[in-house]
Amino acid sequence: MSIFVYGHRGAAYEAPENTIPSFKLAKKLGVYGVEMDLHTSKDNELIVMHDETLDRTTNGKGLIHLHTLEEIKKLDAGFKKGTKWKGTRVPTLREVFENLGKIHYYLEIKQSSRVYPGIESKIMDLVNEFKLENNVQIISFDFDSLKNIRDIDSKIKTGLLYTGKTAWFLDIAKELKVNFMQPSFNLTYEDDIKIAKKNKLGVEAWTIDTIEDVKRAIKLHIDSITSNNPRMVLHTLKKNAK
Ligand code: G3P
Ligand code: CA
Repeated sequence: MSIFVYGHRGAAYEAPENTIPSFKLAKKLGVYGVEMDLHTSKDNELIVMHDETLDRTTNGKGLIHLHTLEEIKKLDAGFKKGTKWKGTRVPTLREVFENLGKIHYYLEIKQSSRVYPGIESKIMDLVNEFKLENNVQIISFDFDSLKNIRDIDSKIKTGLLYTGKTAWFLDIAKELKVNFMQPSFNLTYEDDIKIAKKNKLGVEAWTIDTIEDVKRAIKLHIDSITSNNPRMVLHTLKKNAK
């Protein structure tokens, strides 16, 4: 069985997270897909960034949803990773799709639909416009967002993010009609995989950044690995292929 490899925030170990160069590098390394985090701006554009604030990864300050796209576009999302990346911009989801094309995507909806009303239909409109329905999985820790996605589209793949025992989240996963369990890998053991598979749910784990964890993921028959260091994961999988 092969394990699909997703670049977490692109290839965040080597390039500024959640930026086009980071996603492009992950693609060049040969990943199956890339993971990214989504918010909306004050003028309702889909913004790719992990935190809800601009502070950690850019030279901006404050909440994303209190800034317009024009304001966000002036920021530098690269220099904190090194001078080589200076001038890298914060991408919109549209720009990611335009630049990356038909790779696979884990699109994580951050915060809740209460903070970003309508974010789910905005995402699905864009996925449909780019005809990426078969390439996308929507993931979230937010139950409301996953429910909204399922109400909009009965077929699109979804995954429930959580930290803790898989058994605790099974009922909610069924109610939300997700296709995959997306547990934090450091809390995932054999019984978690067994119970998910018994319930016909795939298991996709994050974030796997060490060789030891890749080897453990192989043993557990995890369906996909999301990593900040896809170069290391791809190399380790190749070395340990039967
Ligand atoms: O791939 C899922 C993972 O990204 C969830 O955690 O905080 O890195 O978005 P976080
Ligand atoms: Ca994420």
